[in-house]
Amino acid sequence: MADRVRILSGIRPTGRFHLGNYLGAAKNWVELQSQYECYYFIADYHALTTEPDGHKIEDKVFDLTADLLAVGIDPERSVLYQQSKVPEVAELTLLLSMVTPLSWVQRTPAFKEKAKIHPDNVNLGLLSYPVLQGADIVIVKGAGVPVGKDQLAHLELIREVVRKFNRTYAPVFPEPRALLTETPLINGTDGKQRMSKTVGNVVGVTDDSEVIRKQVLSMVTDIKRPRRTDPGHPRSCNVCAFYKFFFDDWEHYWDLCRRAQIGCFDKKKLLAERMIETFAPFRERRAALSPEQVTAILDEGSVRAREVARHTMIEVRHAVGLPPYLDR
Ligand code: TRP
Repeated sequence: MADRVRILSGIRPTGRFHLGNYLGAAKNWVELQSQYECYYFIADYHALTTEPDGHKIEDKVFDLTADLLAVGIDPERSVLYQQSKVPEVAELTLLLSMVTPLSWVQRTPAFKEKAKIHPDNVNLGLLSYPVLQGADIVIVKGAGVPVGKDQLAHLELIREVVRKFNRTYAPVFPEPRALLTETPLINGTDGKQRMSKTVGNVVGVTDDSEVIRKQVLSMVTDIKRPRRTDPGHPRSCNVCAFYKFFFDDWEHYWDLCRRAQIGCFDKKKLLAERMIETFAPFRERRAALSPEQVTAILDEGSVRAREVARHTMIEVRHAVGLPPYLDR
């Protein structure tokens, strides 16, 4: 393990795990485990930037942990932990914020976007969101960060902050690199917006078959094909887009659709059954996990991550010129 490059990524516990989370992030995380030393965590501090009541996310933290385990995050190979169980992250955020010019965080697109969505809750935590994200990464000295394109602006900012910290104090941190995998943009059942719990256009992964079936059958299909006998337009049809992920011979179905030999509803039925079948092992694994097991795994991972974090913070406090922890 020691010679492997360490990578890190986090996911916010904002809702039940869905297909967008899976295809856009977790599937990749699972694959990276064979090549890297992986740190994966549930970003509950980050969730507080938009949902200040921690009680409301407790269950989501649990569910997300169970879902990540079910889809193949392996606690034997990866450190899976809860961000707030490593409170040193908060201290490092404070110290990084001293070398982060205000103008840098003010220009991040995600901040501007969220401020627009929640105009009545534009808090300082939201502004320093990327600084907290930077602390997440460097507190375990993560060298690579698997993220989607939407996170690139944060990564760029974080690299600048890290360089500034190293220049100001001492070269404590490696500069983290984004590990960009072609994360497909996953649209929701409305076919218009990115799949997201807030929009309510999700398809589950570890949910019951009935739930998945209902969600898939509710998908908006080819709007340019009013009648079953009209030729379809697979390129612009959301349902057809999903065929690429679930059928090796997706081109065959696209063809049938173009020639009006399969209807939109039948395409959805077929897709639903294929998804249910593909995810069956995940559902089974999730059902086999006891709540005690899930909690124990998350706590165990958090203890391990915290050990690493403590080490880094001893170095950081020394570099900055702060006294060591008293530890008594
Ligand atoms: N901001 C990320 C997102 O919204 C989640 C996240 C928090 C993260 N901390 C991180 C991702 C550190 C990578 C590394 O998806």
